[in-house]
Amino acid sequence: MGGRGDEGRGETRIVRTARAYPSGRTRYMTGPAETIDLIVSAARRLAREELIPAEPTVEAQDEVPEPILARLRELGLFGMTIPREYGGLGLSMQDEARVVFEIGYASPVFRSRFGSSNGVGTQSILNDGTEDQRRRYLSPIARGELIAAFCLSEADAGSDAAAIVTRAQRSGEHYVISGTKRFVTNALAAGLFIVYARTAPPETGARGISAFLVDRDTPGISVTVPYRMMGFRGAHTADVIFDECRVPASALLGPSEGVGFKTAMKSLDHARLHMAALAAGLCERLIDEGVRYASRRRQFGQPIAQFQLIQGMLADCRAESLAARAMVEKVAREKDAGVRITAESACCKYFATEALGRIADRVLQIHGGYGYIKEHAIERLYRDVRLLRLYEGTSQILQLVIAREMLREQAA
Ligand code: CAA
Repeated sequence: MGGRGDEGRGETRIVRTARAYPSGRTRYMTGPAETIDLIVSAARRLAREELIPAEPTVEAQDEVPEPILARLRELGLFGMTIPREYGGLGLSMQDEARVVFEIGYASPVFRSRFGSSNGVGTQSILNDGTEDQRRRYLSPIARGELIAAFCLSEADAGSDAAAIVTRAQRSGEHYVISGTKRFVTNALAAGLFIVYARTAPPETGARGISAFLVDRDTPGISVTVPYRMMGFRGAHTADVIFDECRVPASALLGPSEGVGFKTAMKSLDHARLHMAALAAGLCERLIDEGVRYASRRRQFGQPIAQFQLIQGMLADCRAESLAARAMVEKVAREKDAGVRITAESACCKYFATEALGRIADRVLQIHGGYGYIKEHAIERLYRDVRLLRLYEGTSQILQLVIAREMLREQAA
């Protein structure tokens, strides 16, 4: 995957044509198509030469080192999806997927640091924000100076997102927000919370939900100690408590109350495709780990890669990885063409992350007992990739989304 043949060519070109802005942001000095190639090859080099070597440190320290974060900012990765007029790279979905395939070759922890800035944290503002809101927030997000976090889930509202009980009560020219949001990725680092709250009673369901842009320094906000998770060390997820948090009426996202649920769902349509691209990148990383190990490890007098049962597992991995990537590329094209991709992005995330789980399991199996000890990357990656089948829609919720859309089309 990823055109092994063009790796060298990409590296030569970026050395020749890219230089750093005085601000530290890489400036890509070419036309659009070439610029994308440069960004993709820069992401490829970053993943392989800097991120992968840093993985053990991130795991040990439970922190992504600041110099690595600076490199992510420098390449513009916090603003991939933000239009150029607001200081982002303004990538199309196809180009975003190409970059994520490359970054996804390294631990998913790195991507999670800028994931919400491109996905669920930003898409809401892009899709439904006012021009004032876009101007205020998107540039600092694109520069990586402001982290946006998505506050939808609650203790009793995970898959059933419309069941949220956090309230936003109108009070003159303000709203007063009260409630606790659960599993908020990047909660600690966030300077902006996109908060989904009820502006109408529970019986109004999804139609009673509105979205708000809440600055971190607003009185009444507290963030809990991060959860201790199975994997993803270096990425921090916590609860965010809003205790009578008073925000101006202009913090309402979009033109009116009651459209917040759709805002969230549209963001998730994008985020799920992005997540599928990440999974496709990780599939290739795991396959390379498996092939490398199988080629080196000798049993019965020869490398285990010579055994057909091992080859069968490797072949299954490659076929599934190729399918995942092809799906993402197809749906990204459709999204760029303006087609609604609710079912398709759900298909991509469902297939790619489930395939990734199967691949991680096979690659660990290829490692045998060595896969179960911390000496090899597979032990850590196996734990990390498990999350992808859970967040931004479990596989079962995605099945439900896909089937609903099928039935809706049939009924239309
Ligand atoms: N785009 C636009 N509109 C949409 C939409 C979409 N993708 N999906 C639904 N809608 C609209 C519907 O058309 C409907 O509109 P009308 O009222 O006008 O008819 C309205 O939204 C309500 O839709 P549903 O009736 O389908 O809503 P529902 O309550 O039955 O549930 C669900 C839908 C698909 C199960 C949804 O709740 C869901 O996706 N749940 C999973 C949530 C999720 O992924 N959570 C992860 C949170 S993020 C995270 O993981 C942490 C992090 O920090 C990143």
